[in-house]
Amino acid sequence: MADKRKIRIREVGPRDGFQSWPEFVPTEQKLEVIRMLIDAGVQEMETTSFVSPKAIPQMRDAAEVLAGVPRAGCIHGPLVPNLKGATLALDNGADKLVVVISASDAHNLANVRRTINESLSDLKAIFELARQHGKPVVGSMAVAFGCPYQGDVPEDDVFRLADAYITGGAASVVLADTTGMATPPRVIKLVKGYARRFPETPYSLHFHNNRGTAMANLYAALEAGADTFDAALGGIGGCPNVPQAAGNLATEDVVYMLEDMGISTGIELEAIIAAARLLETIVGGPLPGQVIKC
Ligand code: COA
Ligand code: ZN
Repeated sequence: MADKRKIRIREVGPRDGFQSWPEFVPTEQKLEVIRMLIDAGVQEMETTSFVSPKAIPQMRDAAEVLAGVPRAGCIHGPLVPNLKGATLALDNGADKLVVVISASDAHNLANVRRTINESLSDLKAIFELARQHGKPVVGSMAVAFGCPYQGDVPEDDVFRLADAYITGGAASVVLADTTGMATPPRVIKLVKGYARRFPETPYSLHFHNNRGTAMANLYAALEAGADTFDAALGGIGGCPNVPQAAGNLATEDVVYMLEDMGISTGIELEAIIAAARLLETIVGGPLPGQVIKC
């Protein structure tokens, strides 16, 4: 029998989810959720972000979170918006860095208060610092499928930013539909275009569900050959700089669908559902994920 197809999941709930929750989730509760995620089999995580506490107060405990997480079996890659964030993340023990730049100037200005070119001017120093620490860098691209301010984002702009990341030395790239504007044909086109241009550099897809298309987009990408997806426990998440932000694909929903399709995720369904239930208790309300409602 052929080997089971394997898909990697990058859990982004502890960063994308807790950053967008209106109230600050206490550090110990964040850690409880992270422990359950790792126990369920999550092997890579955006554990927190080293960003300005004025911009995102929910992430002000980044150093404490990183200090408190189990290290075995899981790669912890905090998100960083600039050189200061990269320095703090590495000084606090990050296993890798997830640098974020938007594919549109309008969203980059809203998110990190700089043009794309200004953000790119930091990249060389970030890559150099990561190299000195022997840590890989992920190049994450917000609004790769559409910008809430600008509308369509030309493919050339996406590939130009991917090229800057990869030329700089990124180990992988994240193509994020920050705004949930993607639909399956757009996803297939971008995935195939990316794979043709950058066949050596792995990529992950990050789908938000603002318009209900996230799972269809995942399936389309899967058929087009993608093998890594971002997902967030319970389906929480959202960019603070996107009006009407909605959640990510729920990790437990993705695990349910893929495992039922005979695709291995490395994550145990019952355990990830238990983690989602804990999260529901912590945030005190129903989460967007569907599987836990069954
Ligand atoms: N971590 C912690 N503090 C940081 C920081 C970082 N990565 N980068 C800057 N700061 C601090 C500076 O030290 C300075 O502090 P001070 O006021 O005590 O002197 C303050 O923030 C302002 O610095 P400045 O470089 O002028 O930043 P800014 O006000 O232009 O904001 C960002 C730029 C990038 C720091 C801010 O917009 C940000 O953190 N954005 C993150 C957005 C985000 O996480 N979005 C969701 C994920 S995609
Ligand atoms: Zn996101």
